[in-house]
Amino acid sequence: MRGILITFEGIDGSGKSTIAAELAQRIAEEERPPFAGRRFLFTAEPTDGDEGRMIREKLKRESRMAEGQGSGAREAEQLEELFLFMADHARHLAETVIPALERGMVVISDRYSDSRVAYQGATLRGVIPRPMEWVKELHRPWCIVPDKTILFSIDPSLAVKRCQSRQEECASSQMPKGPEKFEREEFLREVARNFELIVKEEPERFVAIDATRGKAEILEETMTALAELLSETKSKV
Ligand code: ADP
Ligand code: TYD
Repeated sequence: MRGILITFEGIDGSGKSTIAAELAQRIAEEERPPFAGRRFLFTAEPTDGDEGRMIREKLKRESRMAEGQGSGAREAEQLEELFLFMADHARHLAETVIPALERGMVVISDRYSDSRVAYQGATLRGVIPRPMEWVKELHRPWCIVPDKTILFSIDPSLAVKRCQSRQEECASSQMPKGPEKFEREEFLREVARNFELIVKEEPERFVAIDATRGKAEILEETMTALAELLSETKSKV
């Protein structure tokens, strides 16, 4: 496969989607190497396809649900969620990521398999032994490992505040983004720790960006990191 796969990861509210949108605009205007002459595809998980829509609906529903379910039902819920994310990933790979890589494109995905390892590694704790290893193993035979992953690091308390202001912005603009199941500080703290564990296992794949700063600074650093990654992987295109 000739293209390059770059993924953005981080907890909810770390600013990935904001940077991905601004990056797409900046890259479209860039006339210098290593950006000029390359074709980029910006994509995301969960996707906008059938599986992705089911997941978003489910996460909203669960954020509104009372805590009163029994533990068996809760375990089933977490497993169902994992397999929905996996189904979404399978379709995303087959219909979007692989065809673009085969055409030699630079694919930038806002979330990818590490989100499953970090998030479902947390939701499945107590349901499955060693959930992070298990989820990673589920991907291994068929998933494409990213060439590089940019991890947007932020303290969960600030991330939750950003999620709350995003909800307020969306409520006033009538956009469908509501509060989601995972936007709680304690949970996101565990997910952030899981991301750190993933980085420890494969440090060479990751570039960490301090996402607590202002958007402009983060965007500049992401552009610089991306330029370096593209220069390093030049020979593949
Ligand atoms: P993510 O996709 O990682 O969940 P978003 O990009 O949706 O995060 O950002 C969450 C909220 O925080 C949005 O309201 C966004 O406008 C805001 N935001 C994003 N980046 C920053 C930043 N660097 N500083 C302050 N607010 C930010
Ligand atoms: P997303 O829309 O990317 O949320 P945000 O923009 O707030 O970062 O993803 C929706 C939620 O799904 C988010 O809480 C992260 C979670 N998620 C998983 O739990 N597992 C996964 O594999 C993926 C891709 C996302």
